[in-house]
Amino acid sequence: MTDVVDLSNRPRQRHPGKDRRLSVVETIRTIRDNIIEVYPPYVFDKDYTFRRIGFQPFVLVNRPDWIHEILVEKPDIYTKGRLNRRILGPALGNGLLTAEGTFWRRQRRIAAPAFHYKRLRVLAGIMAECTEGLIERWDAIADTGRHVDIAQEMMRLTMEIVARTLFSRDLGTSIDELGKAVATLISSFGRTPVIEMLGLPEWLPRLRDPEATRALATLDRMILDLIETRRAAAEPGEDLLQMLLDARDPETGEGMTDAQLRDEVVTLFAAGHETTAQALTWVFYLLDQHPDEDALLHREVTQMLGDRRPGFDDLHPLQRTRMIFDETLRLYPPAFSISRFAEKADRLGGEGPDGLLVPKGAYVTVSPYITHRNPKLWPDPEIFNPERFADEKVHARHKHAYFPFGGGPRICIGSGFAQTEGRLALAMIARRYRLRLKPGHPVMPQGIVTLRPRFGMKMSIERR
Ligand code: HEM
Repeated sequence: MTDVVDLSNRPRQRHPGKDRRLSVVETIRTIRDNIIEVYPPYVFDKDYTFRRIGFQPFVLVNRPDWIHEILVEKPDIYTKGRLNRRILGPALGNGLLTAEGTFWRRQRRIAAPAFHYKRLRVLAGIMAECTEGLIERWDAIADTGRHVDIAQEMMRLTMEIVARTLFSRDLGTSIDELGKAVATLISSFGRTPVIEMLGLPEWLPRLRDPEATRALATLDRMILDLIETRRAAAEPGEDLLQMLLDARDPETGEGMTDAQLRDEVVTLFAAGHETTAQALTWVFYLLDQHPDEDALLHREVTQMLGDRRPGFDDLHPLQRTRMIFDETLRLYPPAFSISRFAEKADRLGGEGPDGLLVPKGAYVTVSPYITHRNPKLWPDPEIFNPERFADEKVHARHKHAYFPFGGGPRICIGSGFAQTEGRLALAMIARRYRLRLKPGHPVMPQGIVTLRPRFGMKMSIERR
C-alpha cells in the first residue's frame, strides 16, 4: 500500500469493561446484560483466564496456537456442548449451528454447495440489486438532516439478501414483522440462563418469556409457509431451500421432516443476516470517525467502479474496501465469543510446563473480541488501522490471531457469502453517501449472541 496514514490522532475504540474482577452476582448480571463487560481490561494480554461460578469452571483461551488446538485439532474434545444448545436451541432447534456428530456432518454436506464460490458469483448480482433498492429508498431521505438507525437499516438489507439469495423469497411488507420477531428472540433467548452459568443440572426448567414465545410462533408460521409454498410450486427452485428439500438420507432414502427443514431454514436465516448487519453498522460508524479512511475508500470505489453496478469480479481489486471491512471485523467481531464444552480433561500446548490443563466439563471460550485486541498480537489494538490487513502483514501473523468466522470443521459456512455481501454493500453505499453519527449519540458495544450497538446507530445520510 502506498498511502501513509497518520495514526497519532485517531480515536481509540475503547473496551467498556470494568477495571476489576467482578463478584459472582455482578458477573451473572453482567453476562446476561452485556457479556463483553465481564472482561476486565487486564485479560487482553493473558494467555488464559480461569473462573469458577458455582460448580461450573470457565476458561477463556487467548493464545492463537491453543485456539487452533481447540477449534481445528480437537473438535471431538471441545464440542459445541449444552451451553450452545440451551442458548440457541429454543429458537434454532437442531439446525446447522447447534447440531453435532454425524447428523451435523450430513447437514453441512447438503448445505455446502449453496455457498460455493461459483454460486456466490450469481448471488452477488442479487446482493447488488438489494443494495440498489436501499439506495433508492435512501435517496428520498438523504440530505434532509433526518437521523435514521443504521443498525436497523442494515438488518433490513441483510434480511432481504438472505431471503432472496437462499430462499428466492421477496419478503415485501413482512420484513418488519420478521425483523421484530428475530430481534425479540435474540434478546430473550440470547441471554445465558443463570442455571447454566452455575453448572446446575440440565433438567431444571427455564422460564419462558411470553413475548419470545409469540415471536417464535410468528417465525415458525412464516418459515413453514415458505416451505409449503415451495413444495406446492410447479417448478423447483435453484437455491438452498431446494437443496434442503431435495436431500435424501443415503441409508433410508427419506427426505428431511418439516421440523428439521424448519430448524435449518431458521438457522440460516438468523445466522445469515444479523452478523453481517452488525459488521456493516460498525463499518459506517468507524468511517465517520476516520474521515481519512473514508476518503481513501471513496477514492477507490469511484476509480474502480465508476457508476456501474459491481459484481463478484470487482471485489478482488477493491483492496482498501476489503482491508476496511476486515479491520472492522477485528475491532467489532459480530460473533464475539465462541464457546465449547470440554468433553474430557485435556492439556493445551502439550505436556511441557507451559501447557494449560483444562478440566473435564469446563466451558471453554475463545473470543475473537478479546484475541483481536490482544496487545501481544496487535500493536495499538484499540486503533482502527486497515493497513494491518495488507497482504504481507496478514501472512506474517498466526492464522488464529484473527478468526471472526471461527475455525476448523465448524468454521462459518457463510464466510464467503458474508464477505461478498459486506464488501459489495460497503462499496456501493460509500460510493454514494457519507453517513454521519448524530451528535451526542451514545455508542456502546453490547454482546448478546452478537456484538451490536446497544443504543442503535443514529446517523444522517449525506449524498456525496
Ligand atoms: C460477518 C458475518 C458473519 C460472521 C462474523 C459469522 C461468524 C460465524 C462464526 C464465528 C461461526 C462459528 C461458530 C462456532 O464455531 O461455534 C459461524 C457459524 C455459522 N455461520 Fe456465520 N458468520 C457470518 C455470516 C454468516 C452468513 C452470511 C451465513 C449464512 C448465510 C452464516 C451461517 C452460519 C452457519 C450456518 C454456521 C454454523 C456452521 C456449522 O457449524 O457447520 N454466517 N459464523
